[in-house]
Amino acid sequence: MPDLPRLRQVITGFQASAAVHVAAQLGLSDLLVDGPRTVGDLAGSTATDEDTLGRLLHALSTIGVYDERPDGTYANTDLGEGLRSDVPGSLRPLARTVGAPPHWAAWAHLGHSVRTGENAFEALHGLDVWTHRLHHPEENEIFNANMASLTSVVAAAVAAAYDFRDMTRVVDVGGGQGALLAAVLDRYPHVTGTVFDLPQAVAAGPPREELAPRWSAVSGSFFEEVPEADAYLVKSILHDWPDDRCVDILRTLRRGLRDQGVVLLVEMVLGRPGHERAAAFSDLNMLVMPGGRERTETEFAALFAAAGLELTRVVETDSPMAVVEGRAAD
Ligand SMILES: C[S@@+](CC[C@H](N)C(=O)[O-])C[C@H]1O[C@@H](n2cnc3c(N)ncnc32)[C@H](O)[C@@H]1O
Repeated sequence: MPDLPRLRQVITGFQASAAVHVAAQLGLSDLLVDGPRTVGDLAGSTATDEDTLGRLLHALSTIGVYDERPDGTYANTDLGEGLRSDVPGSLRPLARTVGAPPHWAAWAHLGHSVRTGENAFEALHGLDVWTHRLHHPEENEIFNANMASLTSVVAAAVAAAYDFRDMTRVVDVGGGQGALLAAVLDRYPHVTGTVFDLPQAVAAGPPREELAPRWSAVSGSFFEEVPEADAYLVKSILHDWPDDRCVDILRTLRRGLRDQGVVLLVEMVLGRPGHERAAAFSDLNMLVMPGGRERTETEFAALFAAAGLELTRVVETDSPMAVVEGRAAD
């Protein structure tokens, strides 16, 4: 017999995603920080319809996001706590990102990508995700917050797994809010760092004031020029782009690399035991949203080779991501 109940859950997964998105938009978990509240109270705080908000909370309680109490109040569960804005690695920005109408509509266009191989977002909206975010500051802000939050969880694991002892100058390429750079600077007090990104994404300053003397920010495009470095941190960048554009980025980095320097791709890497589901669905997200893909180690090696670099090793981290190290081939 086919496992129809499980299949039904898989098929209707989008409903849970939509409901969590609305909860995150309304900030319900933040409103429950001090303890359980009634639906009427929450409706007042969120300017929502009381009956409908109650239906949303009830549905979310059946999947463990909130706890529906016998007295009719609701409280955060462990899952609900993860949607608070103030918890480390908060998934509230992720929930806000995935349910935003342009993102949702692009995923509804997945079949187009599968039929044609084209990027769904651009086919549907007529422009790429980066240009779209440039024109939609609120979405841009949520996306940047989402990357910073997701990266904060991985960053310490990368800084712990890779040895930066011999580096003095590190550039976080497409580094956004610089969460990864901050983790490296925290662990290696002799290192000076630059976060490099588009003007609409680059961090205004370091996440912690004590890093300011060793921190700088530069805006620009990695298709043109990047500041020189002993190590380029390149987290979740190549997966945004098709192969030819990745080679262009890597060539830019090759030009800026100091002697004995390294290019450190921080990516999910397809084929690593225990992480395949996350990597495979991220691969579809890259297809639909920015028009990139997740890759195997062999595929990364080919990209490096095309840009005058060679893949020297893959360093595992205590996170879903690995560090793919490249050095100048000559
Ligand atoms: C998926 S995010 C990764 C951000 C960060 N590395 C992290 O992992 O948290 C991709 C980043 O690439 C940046 N980006 C896109 N096009 C760029 C370009 N042409 N030059 C520099 N950065 C770019 C985006 O602004 C964004 O911050």
